[in-house]
Amino acid sequence: MKRIYLDNNATTMVSPAAAREMEKFNTTHYGNPSSLHGFGLDTRPELRKALDRIYRLIGAPDSDDVLITSGATEANNHVIKSVFMANLDTEASRGARKNHYITTNIEHPTVYKTFQYLEEIGARVTYLPCDKNGLISAEQVKAALTDQTALVSIMLANNEIGTILPLQEIAAACRRAGVLMHTDATQAIGKIPVNAQDLDVDYLSFSAHKFHGPKGVGGLYVRRGRRLEPLFHGGEQMANLRAGTLNVPGIIGMGVAAQEALDDLNYEATEVKRLRDKLENFILQNIPDVFLNGDKQKRTPNTLNIAFKDCEGEALLWDLNERGIAASTGSACASEELESSRVLRALGIDKALSHMAVRFSLSRFTTEKEIDYVISVLPAVIKRLREISEGK
Ligand SMILES: Cc1ncc(COP(=O)(O)O)c(C=O)c1O
Repeated sequence: MKRIYLDNNATTMVSPAAAREMEKFNTTHYGNPSSLHGFGLDTRPELRKALDRIYRLIGAPDSDDVLITSGATEANNHVIKSVFMANLDTEASRGARKNHYITTNIEHPTVYKTFQYLEEIGARVTYLPCDKNGLISAEQVKAALTDQTALVSIMLANNEIGTILPLQEIAAACRRAGVLMHTDATQAIGKIPVNAQDLDVDYLSFSAHKFHGPKGVGGLYVRRGRRLEPLFHGGEQMANLRAGTLNVPGIIGMGVAAQEALDDLNYEATEVKRLRDKLENFILQNIPDVFLNGDKQKRTPNTLNIAFKDCEGEALLWDLNERGIAASTGSACASEELESSRVLRALGIDKALSHMAVRFSLSRFTTEKEIDYVISVLPAVIKRLREISEGK
């Protein structure tokens, strides 16, 4: 059975060109770039080329830094904990101790749980509530800023519903107030144009596997002059900000994927969106009692989060999987009970309906034939599950 991957907000397929380049760096170009011998020296220009491509993808000028990390989890943890550490009541904090943080109630767990941890160790955190479409306004941020605010961390695009937040306005409000601004841009990069300079943020996180690069590599953009404390101490890699031998094949693969993502942004905005809309319109017009989650307009072009009333999301995923279709839910299976998605609850969706939501996310590798196949099987699958739920 052919398998159709519609879970691209979780992990995209590694692009064939990125996979080929990585293979080379795993087998013949394996020198450690920190070494002074030929093997190491040979990898340096290639590494530089990959970094240049990554800088271009996120619109970072050469004067700013990009710290290569193991992904957005590390980048998010690094920047948030770094700002907290820099504000500890030590001599190094230069007396500028601030202890208030602003984030939102729809952040990815890598941001949300990091702030929860900071709260446990003494930080004060404001979690801004989103509106029913999953949007947060610059006015909300402005109203929450205080002279004690050390950092605002707000995502650019949401991973469950695809909503795109007004980051430029939010960052401008932070800039005016002299407060540092971080954005988790993981879900936006490769789907919409992202330019760290235009956004005017201080820090920006990303992960390669969301734009057809390899898993386990990503980065943290750091605007020139912004402070960053190391999270890992040890070697002198990354200007002493992140000790550890560089993941050369990963960085090379991320570079190739970055170039392709930049080249294909227009395709995302047109073809990927057309296919997503085709699936969405079919569902809205042909299946009764469905509810679209997130903002219909301000949304990444590949994401469709939709709840099918009286059709349990996990059961739907299972049935789709039987037919070769891989989608996902916002729900996570907690150890004892099925927890509903925090993001969907933040939209004000009731708990029962949030369990009925499914996310289909496309990529530039999704074909029209695949979407037609999904359209051909979905109504019968929903009908069957609804009949079971009604006890017919
Ligand atoms: C918005 C967002 N932030 C952070 C992450 C974490 O990325 P990684 O697991 O690659 O570190 C993800 C991954 O799902 C994400 O969607």
